[in-house]
Amino acid sequence: MAQLWGGRFTGQEDELVKKINDSIGFDKRLWREDIEGSIAHASMLGKQGVLSEESAANIVRGLNGIRQDIEDGSLIITDDYEDIHSFMEAVLTERIGDDGKKLHTGRSRNDQVALDMRLFTRRAADDTVRELLSLLDTILSIMEENIDTYMPGFTHLQKAQPVTLAHHMGAYFEMFRRDTERLLDCRRRLNLCPLGAGALAGTTYPLDREYTAMELGFDGPTRNSMDSVSDRDYAIEFLSALSLIMMHLSRLSEEIIIWNSNEYRFVEIDDAFATGSSIMPQKKNPDVAELIRGKTGRVYGDLHTLMVVMKGIPLAYDKDMQEDKEPVFDAFDTAMISIRLMGGMLRTMTFRKDVMERSAMNGFTNATDAADYLVNKGVPFRDAHGIIGRLVLYCIDKKCSIDDLTLDELRTFSESFDEDVFDAVSLKTCVEKRLTDGAPGEGALKKHIEQSRTWLSSLR
Ligand code: ARG
Repeated sequence: MAQLWGGRFTGQEDELVKKINDSIGFDKRLWREDIEGSIAHASMLGKQGVLSEESAANIVRGLNGIRQDIEDGSLIITDDYEDIHSFMEAVLTERIGDDGKKLHTGRSRNDQVALDMRLFTRRAADDTVRELLSLLDTILSIMEENIDTYMPGFTHLQKAQPVTLAHHMGAYFEMFRRDTERLLDCRRRLNLCPLGAGALAGTTYPLDREYTAMELGFDGPTRNSMDSVSDRDYAIEFLSALSLIMMHLSRLSEEIIIWNSNEYRFVEIDDAFATGSSIMPQKKNPDVAELIRGKTGRVYGDLHTLMVVMKGIPLAYDKDMQEDKEPVFDAFDTAMISIRLMGGMLRTMTFRKDVMERSAMNGFTNATDAADYLVNKGVPFRDAHGIIGRLVLYCIDKKCSIDDLTLDELRTFSESFDEDVFDAVSLKTCVEKRLTDGAPGEGALKKHIEQSRTWLSSLR
């Protein structure tokens, strides 16, 4: 097919050049955005008298027809054109004649593609937020149902202090909440319209940039035409937000893999979200969690790709920037399926509350509380720490936990132990006493849940 720029050329394009230069293979995905942008541009040209009202209306009608036909499958976007913009202009001209050739008045593919990518990224950010809100809702429900599901909290993957499943999941709620806010923030900053920047220096036509910006739901036009066509910060911000989402999903996946292992058995992944082995009949593997963890590297790669692509580009548009699309599409698709799968996996997963609670009861998760008990009886903290340390050593030797000892045994370590120690170091007390804001005690946790619900419903 003839290129948009054939006039200056007499020779044929080399086949390999075509292969590296053509982007329609992937930018056809921008067809919706391209039509949307062209309709706004054509209407504005008509309103400003740059085109006659009839020509503008003819173009808009033609573009609406193309949209309809692509939607119902009667028009297929073939790879015969250089890019989606060339395809649209060619099909439009074929359908409505010479008016189709007027669409590109006062526009360059540089501001056109910058607009398409912004529109795509904005929609993608909205879709990602919607998906995150559904995941957050799932996490919050798990929290609500597990306020008194005790489990060990870990540091260094060693049992540390008892928490609850609600509290543990609450940490992930916070991560995905920040991710949501990051996306909303990125969306707010990207919401300026580059259309009208032309190739790089604006145009001599009396364009109404405010008008097209409003038509397309932007807060206003971009402020510098050279930056408008060469800015991909918003795409990098989006990819970086997606990378953090993936990092959080990957950490949660890792926990699910550990919890689902034969050694832990804290959870059982539902059959729908697990896979088997071709050779070992007993296996039920956490492949979904492993794949999310693996795909995190892929999304980081997408971010890195675009960062490196952009780092040496002189103003204004350079063709390097065509490389922005595949990483953005790939990272978006990968993040969307990962968030959705995580939600599905969590909703169907069985939490073995008894196993979690038993695990919290051994491993000396109440050692800090035992030391605090002595502190309350007047023992200096450093001494209490030493006493409980020796006590733990004694228990390890006896293969028992602190609460299994008799008061007499305890008293051989410190005279300050009394009958009330058993209640003070019980699992329930250890958790319930932790009532500082953000802690796992019921009162504090309910407050977190309540605040989280309010925030979530403000966005849904
Ligand atoms: N396919 C190109 C891209 O995605 C469109 C812009 C082409 N502009 C140009 N000056 N060659 O970046």
